[in-house]
Amino acid sequence: MPENIPNEPEKLDLASLDIAAQKRDELAMLFPEARTEGGKIDFEKLKAVLGEAVDAGRERYGMNWPGKSECMRTIQAPSMGTLLPMPEASVEWDASENVIIEGDNLEVLKLLQKSYLGKVKMIYIDPPYNTGKEFIYPDNYTESLQTYLEYSGQVDTGGRKFGSNTETDGRYHSKWLSMMYSRLFLARQLLRDDGVIFMSIDDNEVSNLRKLCDEIFGEENFITDIIWEKRFTRNNDAKLSSSVVDHILLYRKSDDLSRLREGRTEKSNSIYSNPDNDERGPWTSVSYISQRTRAERPNLSYKIVNPQTGNDVEHPVNAWKYSKEQYELHARENRLYWGRSGENEFPRLKRFLGELSEGIVPVNLWNYKETGTIDDGTKIVDALIGKDVFDYPKPPSLIRRMLGMVCKDDGDIVLDFFAGSGTTGHAVLEQNEDGVRRSFVLVQLPEPADKGPFQTISEITRARVKAVIENLRSAPSTLTSNERELGFRAFKLAPSNFIPWDGTASNDAAQLAKQLQLGIEHTRDDRTPDDLLYEILLKSWGEPALSLKVAEETIEGLRVFSVANGLFFICLEETVSLEFIRAVASRKPDRVVMRESAFAGNDQLKTNAVQTFKSQGVTSFKVV
Ligand SMILES: C[S@@+](CC[C@H](N)C(=O)[O-])C[C@H]1O[C@@H](n2cnc3c(N)ncnc32)[C@H](O)[C@@H]1O
Repeated sequence: MPENIPNEPEKLDLASLDIAAQKRDELAMLFPEARTEGGKIDFEKLKAVLGEAVDAGRERYGMNWPGKSECMRTIQAPSMGTLLPMPEASVEWDASENVIIEGDNLEVLKLLQKSYLGKVKMIYIDPPYNTGKEFIYPDNYTESLQTYLEYSGQVDTGGRKFGSNTETDGRYHSKWLSMMYSRLFLARQLLRDDGVIFMSIDDNEVSNLRKLCDEIFGEENFITDIIWEKRFTRNNDAKLSSSVVDHILLYRKSDDLSRLREGRTEKSNSIYSNPDNDERGPWTSVSYISQRTRAERPNLSYKIVNPQTGNDVEHPVNAWKYSKEQYELHARENRLYWGRSGENEFPRLKRFLGELSEGIVPVNLWNYKETGTIDDGTKIVDALIGKDVFDYPKPPSLIRRMLGMVCKDDGDIVLDFFAGSGTTGHAVLEQNEDGVRRSFVLVQLPEPADKGPFQTISEITRARVKAVIENLRSAPSTLTSNERELGFRAFKLAPSNFIPWDGTASNDAAQLAKQLQLGIEHTRDDRTPDDLLYEILLKSWGEPALSLKVAEETIEGLRVFSVANGLFFICLEETVSLEFIRAVASRKPDRVVMRESAFAGNDQLKTNAVQTFKSQGVTSFKVV
């Protein structure tokens, strides 16, 4: 055997997704000179490489709160979980690219880091506003999955209850800030470079959230604070002021996004008319006069001619808005309007509706008439899944307005990790009736539902999206059934399928034997091949794993999953033969994953597999 071919396949590390290591590798790629022999980062060298760009001062401008430093540990603690497919709770599993995940969003955001990194076009979140009445998730970086399992009743609860974060708690704001910081940090990494995040919030935490986001996204990426008029009636029981608005903070990931436009509405179209029967259609006009004086802008001061009167015209004080060349073009194109019979003192510039296909620049005041109210949201949810099951859902029209601004292309992914009743899923499904194929990923905690027939809020999310799908199916549409994607895949957070090696196990012989056995046979008994498949995809394949179309084939009598048209083969059978390995290799995949236990006790077969795959150009063969 040539020396450079190893005879052991590499082990696919699925026990954890190590975010700190991912960041360290990114730094090492950017600054190879700062890398130590052990693959770590030499901070002193990094400082030297960056020179004056490093601020090594002790006092820094920024936001601080008790518990902030623990947030970094929380973010870096690897996730020990996986997402289990729930086909029975899904709609059109095979065809759908939409995803609804039940679980704590911190763990879930960690699990999405590999396959959704830089893939999400728009995030919308509507987190707990910290009004003193909601449950704020208590992150525990040493045992975060265990904490989740206790809260969600999947292991002995020992008295864990979803209690609310009350204003009398000494760490009222800090707890909320820590909860938000870690999630936003991880969420930012999932955004595309031209992606954006919209965050609903009210007066309680808006100033804190803005500071937090300035730190996470960068002040320069703040776009605006949209004021949404969420109701139009005042509450006369309020003591000092009745709040009728919410804030929606909008940040972009980077300046790769340099332009935003909203779709045109009937109202915005209504200002266009055609009083002079211009053959180019309806138009509106804008002033030709600049705010600057002629002294300030001598280049923009020149005489222009009113063609109807033949007079030369100049503004006595101000310059024009446009250069002389632009004016000459406007005059040639007959775009200057001087009134019906040339009676106006100064011209206006005609703008034609037909030329504005790109839409209009968004404003940051969203009126209830255009965008809907909280009451509209409630009525819609009541009609879909029953009265009074979910408090204060947003109206789908609010999120559709965001989608209309940002998600205009097939394949745009929308993420909402505080999904509640699933309004974002509802909005995406309705918006897709325009023929653009957007998909959604929703995450919702199985927080107990305190009223109605549902046990948990995550059940409400799924039920509401199902009801929307049924309604859309029976409603008339301009799209064919092939063009519409009316379904979703349900997943739930659970401990990894692969039992991690317990380094703390005692020296007891039986315990040791168990650990040794785990070295090979280390999957949980109750898990299915599909469970394993999605964990492998999620943690090792850099594409949105949860919505991948996976084909199943039988090769030499064994079941094989094929991803990306045979680029990636996954076989989770407990025994394999040389004929099977040769048949898989002859299909020339790029990557192959098999069970380690399929080779147990047969080192020769393992060596043959490595050789066979190598000779057929397989770039990665790993075992789990
Ligand atoms: C204000 S509601 C969202 C309402 C939603 N926009 C709608 O229109 O229905 C916030 C949701 O976040 C959920 N939530 C809170 N903490 C969470 C966590 N750690 N992981 C996932 N969901 C969480 C709550 O259960 C609640 O349903």
